[in-house]
Amino acid sequence: MEGHVTYRFSTQKVDYHFGFGASRLSAITDRKSTVLLMDENVHALHGTRYRGWECIVIPPGERFKVQSTVDGIIQGLIERKADRQFTLVGIGGGVITDLAGYAASVYMRGIRFGFMPTTLLAMVDASIGGKNGIDVGPYKNMVGIIRQPAFILYDWAFLRTLPDAQWSEGFAEIIKHACIRDATAFRLLATYDIDRIRRKKEILHPLIERNARLKSAVVRRDEFERNERRLLNFGHTLGHAIETVHGLSHGSAVAVGMVLACRLSETRTGFKGTESVKSLIEAYGLPTSHPFHVTKVLDVLRMDKKRVSREMNYILLERIGKGIVHGLPMDELEGWVRSIR
Ligand code: GLY
Repeated sequence: MEGHVTYRFSTQKVDYHFGFGASRLSAITDRKSTVLLMDENVHALHGTRYRGWECIVIPPGERFKVQSTVDGIIQGLIERKADRQFTLVGIGGGVITDLAGYAASVYMRGIRFGFMPTTLLAMVDASIGGKNGIDVGPYKNMVGIIRQPAFILYDWAFLRTLPDAQWSEGFAEIIKHACIRDATAFRLLATYDIDRIRRKKEILHPLIERNARLKSAVVRRDEFERNERRLLNFGHTLGHAIETVHGLSHGSAVAVGMVLACRLSETRTGFKGTESVKSLIEAYGLPTSHPFHVTKVLDVLRMDKKRVSREMNYILLERIGKGIVHGLPMDELEGWVRSIR
């Protein structure tokens, strides 16, 4: 099924093209003034579909989501004589969408950019919302901007080559959306598991579109994260810290972070759904716990962007489908983290 929707953000409208093939790209952006950015993996699997397009290819992996890679991309744009009318299109997962969005936003003080997400995670999360940035040392996304892409083009064919582990990464964010805002999707997810839902295209593709729309609507109402958008950090506060310290994958760390946030919710909001959330997380191939180094995790938490002075905006659940922002004094948060067994 193909579909098209436009969301208007504060300074930019974003066109979402669901279920179109790579050929749609030439209808959206002029080949002569477009540069594609992809990593070596995507280039090896799908590069032939983009013959005739200018293409910058970089090595794969989060460790390349750093300033020196941005410098290389900018150099590549200069070598291709890209002017302010050019468009940079990131074709890939979250690392590529971050790098493309960030490099395009600083090159000549900002050129047009768009995304073709190739992973489930990028389709439902990383390509949406306009936050694009890079890591600095151990600190993830420490430098970046909020600037929306001109378009996001969804080609379901990319999912055919998605490695097994990458599916769970995407479902961690889909489960997150269900927990904070979409009890109906939570019930739908609970009637499947990761192996069965992957194969049901008629369920999977509308589910991806539903998640893209959900996140876009939340971001559109609060683009600069003053209120509602904070809900999208559910599971990410401790999750990010555990990911940084222990090198867990993002999805696994967020899954562990969601379970911990559910446990904290039990005492703060009377939340009763922890076991349902844990079952769903397990059904989608993700861990529900992980031992962590308390002191190192607390060091990373103190640098979290969600901390405001002595308080952390922590996302809790009142019930499945209803997330809330809860201001938690840092000393209380630290006491709770030390007490986790
Ligand atoms: N690029 C991801 C976000 O804005 O949330």
